Amino acid sequence: MTETNKAVAFGQSIAARLRELAAMSDAEGGITRFYLSPAHRRAADLVAGWMRDAGMTVRVTDLGDVIGRYEGAMADAPALWLGSHIDSVANAGAYDGTLGVVTAIAVVADLHKTGSRLPFAIEVIAFGDEEGRFPTTLTGSRALTGRFDPVWLDERDAQGITRREALKAFSCDPGRIVATRPDPNAVLGYIEVHIEQGPVLEAENLPLAAVTAINGASRGSITITGVSGHAGTVPMAMRQDTLAASAEMILAVEACGKATPDLVATVGRIVVPNAAVNTVAGETTITLDVRAPADAMRKKAVADIEVACRAIAKRRGVGMRMEMPYDAPAAACDPRLVGVLEKAITKAGAPPRRMGSGAGHDAMSFNDIAPFVMLFVRCAGGISHNPAEFASEADIGAAALALRFALDGLVAP
Ligand code: HGY
Ligand code: MN
Ligand code: MN
Repeated sequence: MTETNKAVAFGQSIAARLRELAAMSDAEGGITRFYLSPAHRRAADLVAGWMRDAGMTVRVTDLGDVIGRYEGAMADAPALWLGSHIDSVANAGAYDGTLGVVTAIAVVADLHKTGSRLPFAIEVIAFGDEEGRFPTTLTGSRALTGRFDPVWLDERDAQGITRREALKAFSCDPGRIVATRPDPNAVLGYIEVHIEQGPVLEAENLPLAAVTAINGASRGSITITGVSGHAGTVPMAMRQDTLAASAEMILAVEACGKATPDLVATVGRIVVPNAAVNTVAGETTITLDVRAPADAMRKKAVADIEVACRAIAKRRGVGMRMEMPYDAPAAACDPRLVGVLEKAITKAGAPPRRMGSGAGHDAMSFNDIAPFVMLFVRCAGGISHNPAEFASEADIGAAALALRFALDGLVAP
């Protein structure tokens, strides 16, 4: 089979499987597949079957991650980790996360088809907790790299369900979670294929890029407490209106993001318990997501946002509680793996391109633990976390071919 035909075959088979996975949703229209949900269970079972068909042995961790292992030429060969996540945001697209898992399985299936064995094993991982159903996310890849905090088991989702309860409902045993730092001699590294989720590749008419670094992220919430009251009777000057206070704080967060190049700051969700058209809100919670390529820049921005919001709360006579449980440092990809990937991209027929990642990924968890790199794939309009998310079969095929060449590049640099 010529390389062009192989890329076409990859693109078609991977796109077909992504359509199958897209049907695994907890919502009537669209794709919503939260971590440890029934749809995640169905998707995990489907992916496990594809892994077995590709000649892999399969295990499911006590955090709900599915790991397929394709043995190397020697029994105790070190492993190369490939993968991404199969959970999604609400009303998601069909490519975020799933593309990396299905592409990795397709490349292993290509080896299996000819009975090829490499000098290293390959483990394909379908992580379940990337989008963050609970306040802390990336818990699967963090456990795999020896960084799991049992306190996360008592975190609650938006419905008040604890991670511990959700794990048990998923047939996991939270008491048996394994989180040991991997032996550096047992792991070659981690490669994640993922849509870019941004507009750069499309703007430059490029299909692929090797990722050089991933922005750091801080994530949490600000809860404002005031006094709920009758919208018709409480005079404006006597109100402790938390919804109005949150509006000012949301604009302060936006102003902070706009004031610093390369920094982004977002309020993505607002919650007003017992909200009513004729009630002055007495409690409001807003979420906070701050990202930057440099950790000092990000931490300063979080501190500046806290000062600005506390001043607003004081002036308005309301209380404020800020909690930032999630802190993921910026992570630099391994230069050697970036080079291997860039050569593979070129061999797959695409112009080489390097770029940073504004989005967070499981790959960040390998920082300081194992060499890692990501392969970005062009997506239409840079759109993601949106049903309009799209990557073409041609670009998917090129990505799979590049990943296959990257494996060869690891064997014979
Ligand atoms: O939020 C992120 O960056 C990722 O899509 N979970
Ligand atoms: Mn993702
Ligand atoms: Mn995402």
